[in-house]
Amino acid sequence: MSSQLLRQPAEIRFQDELQRLHEQDGSAAKPANWYLSPRSVRAFILGDDKLNVSRKFYGDDALVDRAIVTLMGKQGLMLVGEPGTAKSMLSELLAAAISHDSGLTIQGTAGTTEDHIKYSWNYALLLAEGPSERSLVPSPLYQGMAAGKTVRFEEITRCPPEIQDVMVSMLSDKTMMLPEMGEGARLLAQSGFNVIATANLRDRGVHEMSAALKRRFNFETVKPIQDAKFEQQLLRLQLQQELGDLKGQVQVGDDVVEVLVTVFQELRKGVATDGTHLKKPDAVMSTAEAVNIAHAASLEAAFLGDGAVTGGALARQLRGVVLKDNDEDIARVQYYIDAVARERAKHNSAWKSFYEESKALWQ
Ligand SMILES: Nc1ncnc2c1ncn2[C@@H]1O[C@H](COP(=O)(O)OP(=O)(O)O)[C@@H](O)[C@H]1O
Ligand SMILES: [Mg+2]
Repeated sequence: MSSQLLRQPAEIRFQDELQRLHEQDGSAAKPANWYLSPRSVRAFILGDDKLNVSRKFYGDDALVDRAIVTLMGKQGLMLVGEPGTAKSMLSELLAAAISHDSGLTIQGTAGTTEDHIKYSWNYALLLAEGPSERSLVPSPLYQGMAAGKTVRFEEITRCPPEIQDVMVSMLSDKTMMLPEMGEGARLLAQSGFNVIATANLRDRGVHEMSAALKRRFNFETVKPIQDAKFEQQLLRLQLQQELGDLKGQVQVGDDVVEVLVTVFQELRKGVATDGTHLKKPDAVMSTAEAVNIAHAASLEAAFLGDGAVTGGALARQLRGVVLKDNDEDIARVQYYIDAVARERAKHNSAWKSFYEESKALWQ
């Protein structure tokens, strides 16, 4: 049955790796209530060949070290950056490695209320018994404080500032007041409790973060992957994972992967490798979007084509997957195709296929 689920939490997907690291830790020193030692948390995320632990986060090892150190201390960890830079992934992996539980997650939205963050009530029990441990319905934050675990707060800046501020006392005093349960009633956090929040800097509907809240967090900015070769490798790896059993039925050449990653990197940076200046699209052009394009093009090749992914197939997916209905973005990419892709099409068949299909589709 489990193989039918679209996605398992990290502590299930990587159960074996976590187990091996846990065993290797033996009596190594750990912060109270941590499942793995800090060194093993690092190995879980950055990989360890000897223990056959895969690398999961690429591009900035020092950031991972700092994140682990932050989580051992009193401050929360705030991961900020463009969408698609693996902030959510990193917070899930950290929670899985530190607390063996990545599920204590609050999803920030415009509709998040104080109850979502603290606790609510089972009203039938509340009426029958009054406020009690039984009638209280704990939030993920409550559970994390009670058990000394990592709590994730996704997209915290989507919550209105007054709701963000509910977190302030929880992070500074590590205490949640429970006024309904009697005078002075409170929940005190166990050691091991901490919060990893994520915030996208570019999406619409984002609020400012209050100064009080900022002081409770150490900030880490997660950047898109800079190195083209690295991004190509990662794209291949993630495409394989996405394709699952289908991967035997599609061929994605290195030249096609190179076209995709080059297009993304150049548009993201606003300058081509030959120095041509470009206007950056508003659309998010992260690795995650590139994987989505490669995946869609692979499905097309497998089910409607002959199995080979071409540059043209990328061009067919680029608009629907990334540019959507933004006319200005479409014009920016058209410029790119004329100014940059056309020249490359003269010497390279993957670029030629990409260029010709783009022309046919968009002009
Ligand atoms: N540096 C990276 N290392 C590994 N995977 C990455 C990296 N950057 C992006 N990805 C991929 O992009 C996906 C999207 O990331 P996600 O965590 O949803 O981003 P965010 O929360 O920052 O918007 C990740 O699950 C991962 O597959
Ligand atoms: Mg996210």
